[in-house]
Amino acid sequence: MKRVGILTGGGDCPGLNSVIRAVVRYAIKEGYQVIGIKNGWKGLIENDTVVLDLTAVSGILPKGGTILGTSRTNPYKKEGSKEKVKENFKKIGLEALIVVGGEDTLGVADKLHKEGLNIVGAPKTIDNDLSCTDVTFGFDTAINIATEAIDRIHTTAESHHRIMVVEVMGRHAGWIATEAGIAGGADVILIPEVAIDMDEVCEVLKKRHSRGKSFSIVVVAEGAKFKEGDVVKQEEKLDAFGHVRLGGIGHVLGEEIEKRTGYETRVTVLGHIQRGGTPTAFDRVLGTRFGIKAMELVLKKDYGKMTALVGNKVQGVPLEKAVAKLKTVDMELYDIAKMFFG
Ligand code: F6P
Repeated sequence: MKRVGILTGGGDCPGLNSVIRAVVRYAIKEGYQVIGIKNGWKGLIENDTVVLDLTAVSGILPKGGTILGTSRTNPYKKEGSKEKVKENFKKIGLEALIVVGGEDTLGVADKLHKEGLNIVGAPKTIDNDLSCTDVTFGFDTAINIATEAIDRIHTTAESHHRIMVVEVMGRHAGWIATEAGIAGGADVILIPEVAIDMDEVCEVLKKRHSRGKSFSIVVVAEGAKFKEGDVVKQEEKLDAFGHVRLGGIGHVLGEEIEKRTGYETRVTVLGHIQRGGTPTAFDRVLGTRFGIKAMELVLKKDYGKMTALVGNKVQGVPLEKAVAKLKTVDMELYDIAKMFFG
């Protein structure tokens, strides 16, 4: 029997299960057995797998997270791991592997494809920072969660006449901050792509107060930095892909705002809430479309490709191009956000 594998790697996000379900449904129809690799690349290093039949994927569409588990394991980090991946790929008898991940997981997929493995990718991440696709699944759910949070923070900000700083995720791209900020009517939005100018931020807030608004919402992306400084980290340690753990800019910013303006300020860090829970309809549909396309690429033996949404069409794009550079915020969009500052 022909076998196709699927793994989910890196930070989880809502919509992963819709990809798994779509791949399984399509693959079985085409006469394949689907092998689920547990916990990302770790599962392929350790040959930790599970057969995914129709029962295994029944009822998973509305569930967040991933039924396969995930990890941030990098097979190129530890000696011998990459060889184990190749050995187990053969041992399991995979014709091809569908890799669902972000820049790190798909970066590994690209390298392994170049070393001879039959691989197809699908882009997931709440950060929306993968190139060659208009959007990644998981992002829509994250911005909806963040928007709802901002709406809720609005009412308490207004009652207490406070500045409310909301820190959102997104790593080195400000997509979540920009889109949730626009949708939530934020008064200031700060992103990694534009260095924070404290004079400007305080001027905007003071102007707003002078026109009778005694509260303001400031949305800040975790990867944003001050003009004269570096990103704020939770710890110095780097993960297997060389990333720092971001987080804490909200508190630093909140203190600075209060010190400079005298306005009472509170800080909310949304954290992993943005990644949890049930996916939006948009993410379920996009995940489903990506799953079907990924399997279609496998059937065509069109390896080394990543599924991508371009306009309203799902297509295969070269993995190599998709992981070559981060997709940062479109400045035209940020300019729109800026028109509502203050
Ligand atoms: O890449 C997704 C993401 O949620 C980033 O926005 C964030 O910086 C990071 O993962 C958090 O990682 P962890 O789950 O390891 O804390």
